[in-house]
Amino acid sequence: MPIPAPNLYPDFNTIRLSHVCLNVKDLAASKTFYTDILGLQVTDETDSHVYLRAMEERGHHCIILQKSDQPGTVEFMGFKTFDEEDVETAESYFRGKGRPTSWVDRPYQGKTLLTSDNMGIPLEFYHKMDRLAPIHQKYALYRGVKPLRIDHFNCFSHDVDASVAFYSDFGFRVTEYTEDDVSKKLWAAWMHRKGGVHDMAFTNGTGPRLHHVAFWVPTPLNIIDLLDLMATTGYVDNIERGPGRHGISNAFFLYILDPDGHRIEIYCSDYQTVDPDLEAIKWDLQDPQRQTLWGAKAPESWFKHGTKFVGVETKDSEIQASPIIAP
Ligand SMILES: [Fe+2]
Repeated sequence: MPIPAPNLYPDFNTIRLSHVCLNVKDLAASKTFYTDILGLQVTDETDSHVYLRAMEERGHHCIILQKSDQPGTVEFMGFKTFDEEDVETAESYFRGKGRPTSWVDRPYQGKTLLTSDNMGIPLEFYHKMDRLAPIHQKYALYRGVKPLRIDHFNCFSHDVDASVAFYSDFGFRVTEYTEDDVSKKLWAAWMHRKGGVHDMAFTNGTGPRLHHVAFWVPTPLNIIDLLDLMATTGYVDNIERGPGRHGISNAFFLYILDPDGHRIEIYCSDYQTVDPDLEAIKWDLQDPQRQTLWGAKAPESWFKHGTKFVGVETKDSEIQASPIIAP
């Protein structure tokens, strides 16, 4: 199917992705990974939760680590709206789409809507989150890969066309996509609100599952430093793919796995997409340069492994085509 025309005047205004709650087995081990290795800053912690932010972020949290008896699952993904009225409008919007809606109490956040997308991915929308003092020039605090901000989510979907149609209706715009030449169905798509290549991407596969959460870092050199750090501190097996430069998005990347198997991407240098008439770029599924501009193929795990949303059933994709996979 062709990608949908962008909806430039959606019912409510989502400004960007905001945060994700990851269920983990060993809170201390996860905290070590996200602080000493990734370099996120702890903004609060309890016996059951650790809240973290990246160096540029003024909001209280971009990652919530939650101690769980279902580790390796995802509790919800969060998005920030332009104002409080948008949160109210979002509630009636999703209710009108037949999705469940409820108001939930979240520490450090104002009025928060919990709903889900058409595949069942738990989504929350809020406007107000506690604001913290800037730390981006407190260079003594920088550690690990020096993460500046959360950049995007990527999820497996068993029907990428349906996922793209759903998010397009509330204003997400496609920047790049891969189409299966035989079925003419979307194999993957990248969609944004904030003016980069994506806030949310969908990849064909058993879904819904979280494929990865990405963090923006200052330069590719930070990624090289992270590899040296991981390789000498017991995390060499957590390095999955990269470093490299993507064809899609043109960003420099590295994929690593946290102690519970949640995939994290380190990402920098994509491009501006704010023009409302920006043309989406189409890629061939059989072009390995879409994965890595330099031609390296992604490993099989990259197309198979993801983490489930807690309590959400998954379905296998019906697309028969498969991308080129590294031997
Ligand atoms: Fe990504």
